[in-house]
Amino acid sequence: MELNKKKELEKKYNFKSNYIKHIGNFRNEIIQKKIIPYQVEFQAPPRGKKICWLECPYCYGLSADNNGERLSKERGLEILRQILDGGVKKIIFAGYATDPLNCSYIGELLDLTISKKAIFGFNTKALKISETFFNALEKNKISDGSYISLSVDSGSNETYNLIHDVKAKKAKIYDQVLNNARRLGDLKKKNYFDLSAAYLVNANSANLNDYENFINDFISAGCNVLRFSFPQPPKDTTTAKGVVPTPEEINLYLSDLNKLKKKYEKDNCLIIITNPDSDHDIYNKPRTIPCYARYLFPTVGFDGWLYNCSQSSAPNFRSTALGDLTKNDFWKLFYNYDNENLDNYIKVCSKKISDSGCRCDRKEHIVNQFVIDSKVF
Ligand SMILES: C[S@@+](CC[C@H](N)C(=O)[O-])C[C@H]1O[C@@H](n2cnc3c(N)ncnc32)[C@H](O)[C@@H]1O
Ligand code: SF4
Ligand code: SF4
Repeated sequence: MELNKKKELEKKYNFKSNYIKHIGNFRNEIIQKKIIPYQVEFQAPPRGKKICWLECPYCYGLSADNNGERLSKERGLEILRQILDGGVKKIIFAGYATDPLNCSYIGELLDLTISKKAIFGFNTKALKISETFFNALEKNKISDGSYISLSVDSGSNETYNLIHDVKAKKAKIYDQVLNNARRLGDLKKKNYFDLSAAYLVNANSANLNDYENFINDFISAGCNVLRFSFPQPPKDTTTAKGVVPTPEEINLYLSDLNKLKKKYEKDNCLIIITNPDSDHDIYNKPRTIPCYARYLFPTVGFDGWLYNCSQSSAPNFRSTALGDLTKNDFWKLFYNYDNENLDNYIKVCSKKISDSGCRCDRKEHIVNQFVIDSKVF
């Protein structure tokens, strides 16, 4: 891998990419209502009654409300078309409490994104991948910077079931995900996108055999980045001991992981280890406000509402939402703010956001802090 490409990937996977091109223009663009989000996160609705196909004990979305409301296929595709036609260049299909590949029309959403030449990004457990999805990846030229990140968290079927609390103890989900990764790896040789695999380390997944299997399996499947990190405390959920590691446990895990990085990192695959605590002092901090997320990466919730960010995109965050996309178009809601009294508007939003009890992810802490430090507001 070229040095520049390696540095760019490292920056991206450490959330150090710059979400704001010219900080000097940022405030003016907001005032003039000319700001276009750097990316829109789209939480594709789940196919069944449950919000997600797994219930991972560490998941920061476990406390999300499931009020049964879902964005329909027709309206979902229409909203995505509005977003893309309005100039958004990057669509992230992830989830706060859902999995994008658990949506019945995810293949069509991806196809539309690629055909409009936008960059796509996926964070998924990839338990199942539809043929429409594979076809979309094969059919059109993929824009540079597109990625699929597989959350694997283990190197064997047993550990997979343990860390994700899969009740059917004999289930071979790790094998299933690895097969899907191989198919994606083959496709990526013809139509390039970054393929990465992530491993959350806690008491259920920390062991050398699993680390090594995971590294070998996912490098040979075609991944060009492997990322190890640690679960952060989820909002409003009490976790069993060991699910969220303490800073002391993290230090122990890091010593093994750093040795493995030295042993296995190759030119064709980067191994990244991120530690939220030491990197940004955000382990226990719930949020960084004032919050600028809605201008940079607003999020379409699985319930068809538009929210500030991916971490506040479920019905329990309606008090801070931008509005209902089933009744209003995207750009109407996006530009619906008081630009004549912006400082006051941001102050009022910050109060509501703080009362909502949301928790920023790393990217959100970093970006909000970047804007605060720039003193343009
Ligand atoms: C919430 S999930 C949504 C997308 C998809 N369902 C998945 O699991 O990849 C997005 C990413 O956040 C990670 N994640 C979930 N809870 C977390 C936590 N408490 N701390 C750190 N990462 C977490 C997941 O492992 C996954 O990689
Ligand atoms: S981590 Fe992903 S797959 Fe697991 S429960 Fe949360 S949203 Fe679902
Ligand atoms: S989680 Fe962070 S980025 Fe999202 S609304 Fe709350 S303060 Fe803003």
